[in-house]
Amino acid sequence: MAIQGLLPTRLLVLLGVLALAHASVFLSGQRLKPRFQRDRRNIRPNIILILTDDQDIELGSMQAMNKTRRIMEQGGTHFSNAFVTTPMCCPSRSSMLTGKYAHNHNTYTNNENCSSPSWQAQHEPRTFGVYLNNTGYRTAFFGKYLNEYNGTYVPPGWREWVGMVKNSRFYNYTICRNGVREKHGYDYSKDYLTDLITNDSINYFRASKRVYPHRPILMVISHAAPHGPEDAAPQYTTSFPNASQHITPSYNYAPNPDKHWIMRYTGPMKPIHMEFTNMLQRKRLQTLLSVDDSVEKIYNMLVETGELENTYVIYTADHGYHIGQFGLVKGKSMPYEFDIRVPFYVRGPNIEGGTMREWGWLAGRARPMGSSPRLLVPLCAGFRAPQQGFNAAQCWEEEEEVVEEEEEVREEEEMEEKEEVKEEEEVEDEEVGKVRVEEEEVEVEEEEGDQEEEE
Ligand SMILES: *[C@@H]1O[C@H](CO)[C@@H](O)[C@H](O)[C@H]1NC(C)=O
Ligand SMILES: *[C@@H]1O[C@H](CO)[C@@H](O)[C@H](O)[C@H]1NC(C)=O
Ligand SMILES: *[C@@H]1O[C@H](CO)[C@@H](O)[C@H](O)[C@H]1NC(C)=O
Ligand SMILES: *[C@@H]1O[C@H](CO)[C@@H](O)[C@H](O)[C@H]1NC(C)=O
Ligand SMILES: *[C@@H]1O[C@H](CO)[C@@H](O)[C@H](O)[C@H]1NC(C)=O
Ligand SMILES: *[C@@H]1O[C@H](CO)[C@@H](O)[C@H](O)[C@H]1NC(C)=O
Ligand SMILES: *[C@@H]1O[C@H](CO)[C@@H](O)[C@H](O)[C@H]1NC(C)=O
Repeated sequence: MAIQGLLPTRLLVLLGVLALAHASVFLSGQRLKPRFQRDRRNIRPNIILILTDDQDIELGSMQAMNKTRRIMEQGGTHFSNAFVTTPMCCPSRSSMLTGKYAHNHNTYTNNENCSSPSWQAQHEPRTFGVYLNNTGYRTAFFGKYLNEYNGTYVPPGWREWVGMVKNSRFYNYTICRNGVREKHGYDYSKDYLTDLITNDSINYFRASKRVYPHRPILMVISHAAPHGPEDAAPQYTTSFPNASQHITPSYNYAPNPDKHWIMRYTGPMKPIHMEFTNMLQRKRLQTLLSVDDSVEKIYNMLVETGELENTYVIYTADHGYHIGQFGLVKGKSMPYEFDIRVPFYVRGPNIEGGTMREWGWLAGRARPMGSSPRLLVPLCAGFRAPQQGFNAAQCWEEEEEVVEEEEEVREEEEMEEKEEVKEEEEVEDEEVGKVRVEEEEVEVEEEEGDQEEEE
């Protein structure tokens, strides 16, 4: 089983797998039935992707997140070999959104081609948001998008859009809320980004289920934490006074003449740098405490709305981070485990809690994607325990049949769904039209200070 840096493709495949997982499991169990139950649509699972910015797993950041670990580790499965293909924000996010490698979406850095006209023309119309919206999901995005996103438009596919302009911040940022720019200051109770997108996403989910109880929801909650400027919530600014998990075996191991050029020229850190690394670790963990609270709030909301059993929650990051590893004071972009390895947890229907998986279990059974929204085919046993007499060849054969059946049924269903969605949307547009200004031409203010980039 080749289990290598394949996260972006996997993530997109996974989202598709999850969107169809119910149907597949249903079919695998009851393949003799000629048709799906007619109410299958009512039970299509919600999908919530929680994404953090720059969160390592190698430096122990998950140790600060007890609630998340309880909810995602004990309640779901932990993929122990999750890697990103490109350990830099914009390339990695572009890959997650499209399932394409950087050499296919052409975003190689956080600046050039990041959210560019070519991205908008060629790739943005083909994100998982677009596909899932097209199949009837109610889609919503909250938080950081792409580093150069300037807030003048709502990317296609997202019904509800609360996208951060430019790079991660906790205060003093601008967001584009469904086409309208909204400036935020530095009042914790009104502006703290982690809390803002938590509140917004919970409100959206509840409101959506109230009005459309049978429509599945896709939400992305994209946090700034633990990215710089690492502003902790006031109640957490003194947490982890002596955090030291970042002092791994490779901490300050330098220079490294056997490694690539930058490592050959990076010497050991000075005491002042080492002090800085301790402070940075502390501050990053502090910001994650608010994400930890957020995950718990989302979880509680799912319990309260009765949607927990029918919701996949995925927790991951755009890439890892280093703090002192090989003498590199801080950052990402390096082709080493600390930068490419990320946390990756999934919980939801048919996922056994408290399990640990390697990518292989998905790798073998997800087909490559083409350009249609229903190409993401789950192959069998994706989430079943492998040890229970699993026969890969037989599984594949069965799935082939299932897939064919499913294709037929889906085509039929999609026709029906499209009609229904259209009707619903007409009603909704009337309802919400007054509040929400869609596709409004928005005045662009100069973003002072937004230009400076995290290294
Ligand atoms: C997480 O749980 C461990 C073990 O119970 C405890 O020692 C630690 O203080 C907790 N961390 C936080 C941030 O609550
Ligand atoms: C930007 O993308 C275009 C097409 O997608 C590509 O031709 C170009 O080389 C890219 N620019 C850079 C600097 O990578
Ligand atoms: C924002 O992005 C759009 C689309 O890429 C572009 O047309 C516009 O000029 C940009 N505006 C500013 C102020 O950067
Ligand atoms: C979502 O999909 C529907 C049906 O295909 C389409 O009419 C609508 O414009 C899409 N919405 C967004 C925000 O892309
Ligand atoms: C936000 O901006 C105000 C006014 O410019 C400044 O005083 C404050 O320090 C800034 N806060 C943060 C966290 O950036
Ligand atoms: C989020 O909601 C909580 C609870 O209603 C509230 O106390 C807090 O001020 C809100 N925070 C933001 C940033 O909206
Ligand atoms: C943190 O380290 C300081 C100085 O080394 C020490 O005095 C203090 O007891 C430590 N605090 C904790 C909570 O371990």
